[in-house]
This record gives sequence, structure tokens and C-alpha cells, in this order.
Amino acid sequence: MEEAVQYLRSARRVVLLTGAGISKESGLDTFRDSEGDGIWSRYNPMELATPQAFNKDPELVWKWYNWRREKAFKAMPNAGHEVLAEWENQYPEFLLVTQNVDGLHQRAGSRKIVCLHGNLLEVRCLETDRVLNRLDSFKTVPPFCHCGSMLRPHIVWFGEALYPGTMETAINAVKNADILVVVGTSLAVYPAASMVPYAINEEIPVIEINPEKSDFSNHTIFLKGESGTILPNLQKALSD
Ligand code: OAD
Repeated sequence: MEEAVQYLRSARRVVLLTGAGISKESGLDTFRDSEGDGIWSRYNPMELATPQAFNKDPELVWKWYNWRREKAFKAMPNAGHEVLAEWENQYPEFLLVTQNVDGLHQRAGSRKIVCLHGNLLEVRCLETDRVLNRLDSFKTVPPFCHCGSMLRPHIVWFGEALYPGTMETAINAVKNADILVVVGTSLAVYPAASMVPYAINEEIPVIEINPEKSDFSNHTIFLKGESGTILPNLQKALSD
């Protein structure tokens, strides 16, 4: 903890990478869980989160996304999200890169944010690729655009490339960072996870906050525990 506070105290350029774990204390499930009850142990991603699955059964895919949208809309940001929104104003250069699609960082006030995997609030027209904000849950699925074409979730599915420029922005920010802070991610999914070995190779210090170690934890300042507790503790130590 002390080492992490020292780095954070002297840093001017801070980059965050967050994953599903930061929203766990808001009541949203992670994907991979040591206890075996993560989302991907209950649902098959190949049937729900690929372009092929959507082509085969858009109604099934949309029912699942509608359910996830409702859960995310009902959830509230927790103390961890709130600290990261404060850091944005505290540090002269700051970027929050998230793999999360739940919108909780934005609802906590984060604005300097790159959503690598999309956003549950947004939908995309299959015909025009136009991205629309839809806050309501759909009464009938699949939903349609006013142009008559079907809408899809604006989410990066398995087998799809990330949105243009997002990963480049993330890596460029790491390249120029004094510190990378990684919160609540198993670092199992690439290219998002590549930010961590990139930082380690460039000898940029990495703080990792997670109840469980990742493949990279031997090379990070590992803070074991829940982000809803550790981030406020860090923030308190920084202001003392
Ligand atoms: P994972 O579900 O793979 O990992 C969640 C991590 O959060 C694990 O390492 C947990 O130990 C940790 N964790 C659990 N509770 C926590 C808490 N209270 N505080 C902090 N950490 C906690 O989620 P991601 O790494 O985000 O992609 O998964 C990456 C991508 O895989 C997701 O964006 C999603 C999924 O397939 C898409 O949907 C495209």
C-alpha cells in the first residue's frame, strides 16, 4: 500500500485499466470467477456474444442484452468508481480505459474514458452503422432503427475487432504514463490486457487491485482486495 501511495503521490500522468471486478460491489457479476459462478460459466458466449450468434438468433441475443441492460441501469456506481472520477480532476493527465460496458464509470462522473468493448446504453444500426443512445429497455426484440433496419448492441463481440483508434489511444497513453493502475480485471482478454505487459516492458510501474492474482502480478505492485475498499483507502492516504 505504501509503495502504491508513493507512486500515486508523485505521478502526474495516470492511466487506469478497469474490468468487471470494479462493478462487482455494485451488484453486477464478473465474467470469470474463481468460485465458478461468473457470467461465462452460466452462459455460453458463443451463443450470445458473437456476430454468428446474432445472425442466427437476434431475438435470443437481444433478450440477453435487454436483461443485462436492465441490470446495469438499476445498479449504482460504488466507492471505487467514485474515486476514479475524482482522480480525473486530480491528475493533470489522466485516462480511464475500461473493458466494462455497464456505464457505471460515466454515471460516477468519469469523462476521460475509452470504452474498449462498447457500451450497453448504445445501439447501432446494421444498415448505416449509426450509433444511438437508448436508455429505455426494449418492449419487443429485436429492436429496429427508424430507417427500418435492425439495431444491434454497440458491443464488441468475440471475433470482432475493437473500434478504430481505441487500442491505439490506450497504448499511447500508457507509453506516456508515470503509472498504470489496473483494477478488477482477470487480464484474460486481449488486446485490452496487452496494456499491462506493454507497461512492464517499458518499465512503467503497474499497481494492480484485485482479490485474485493475475498472470502479471509478480511484476506489479499487487494490492489484494476489493476495489470498493482499496480505492477509497488509497484516496484517503493520498489526501493525508
Ligand atoms: P473477468 O470476469 O474476466 O475478471 C474480473 C476480475 O475481477 C477477476 O480477476 C476477479 O478476481 C476480480 N474481482 C472480483 N471482485 C472484485 C472486487 N470486488 N474488486 C476488484 N476486483 C474484483 O472480467 P474482465 O477482466 O473485465 O468482454 O473481462 C474482460 C472481458 O471479458 C469483458 O470485457 C468481456 C468478457 O468477455 C466482452 O464482453 C467483449
